[in-house]
Amino acid sequence: MQITYYGQSCFQVNIGGYNILFDPYITPNPLAKEIDITKIEADYILLSHAHQDHIYDAEAIAKNTGATIIGIWEIHAWFEQKGVKTHPMNIGGKWPFEFGTVIMTPAIHSSSFQDGSYGGNPAGFVIENDEHTFYYSGDTALFSDMKLIGEMYKPEFAFLPIGDNFTMGIKEAVMASRFVGVKKIIGMHFDTFPYIQIDHKEAMMIASFNEAELILPEIGKPFEI
Ligand code: NI
Ligand code: MN
Repeated sequence: MQITYYGQSCFQVNIGGYNILFDPYITPNPLAKEIDITKIEADYILLSHAHQDHIYDAEAIAKNTGATIIGIWEIHAWFEQKGVKTHPMNIGGKWPFEFGTVIMTPAIHSSSFQDGSYGGNPAGFVIENDEHTFYYSGDTALFSDMKLIGEMYKPEFAFLPIGDNFTMGIKEAVMASRFVGVKKIIGMHFDTFPYIQIDHKEAMMIASFNEAELILPEIGKPFEI
């Protein structure tokens, strides 16, 4: 499975012959200034919650590509009004898309649009098809119900925030990886803003000391998992 990181919590994952894009926040991110959003291919855009650092480029990319936005009811309603194709979900539900099944999972965080309107609850996603299963937690605190995600869906790896302050930090992400039963953590939500700048070496050390494998993805450079 090929994955490309576009900064903050944005990843493109090629799964089942489709490109799915998570939480696009690219054009305002100086770390992602090399990325041209008009070149990004997406069939589906999955949005974990309504904060700007997760949805900023969603409308533009959806309009460029004709992608369908998948999000909680309130996010669907917002983007539908903008003339974008959407698929509404809510926490605990699943739907079989052409690339695989999406399960919407809880997240402990907040969610509002930039203008203050209600964004619904924040969420995460499990994606599963015949070949792969993975967990994308969205912005969240560590919570023990992540164990249910491990028991129910048995992901192979997880995208987890590691930047601390607004979300889990690396120590909590290591515990989260145990809860969901994965060794491999793809780090996200780090370095974009001063509040979430991390020491890469220290994060790698904490992960390896705890027998977790932390991947700190490079922006714009595809990798295989
Ligand atoms: Ni957030
Ligand atoms: Mn965020």
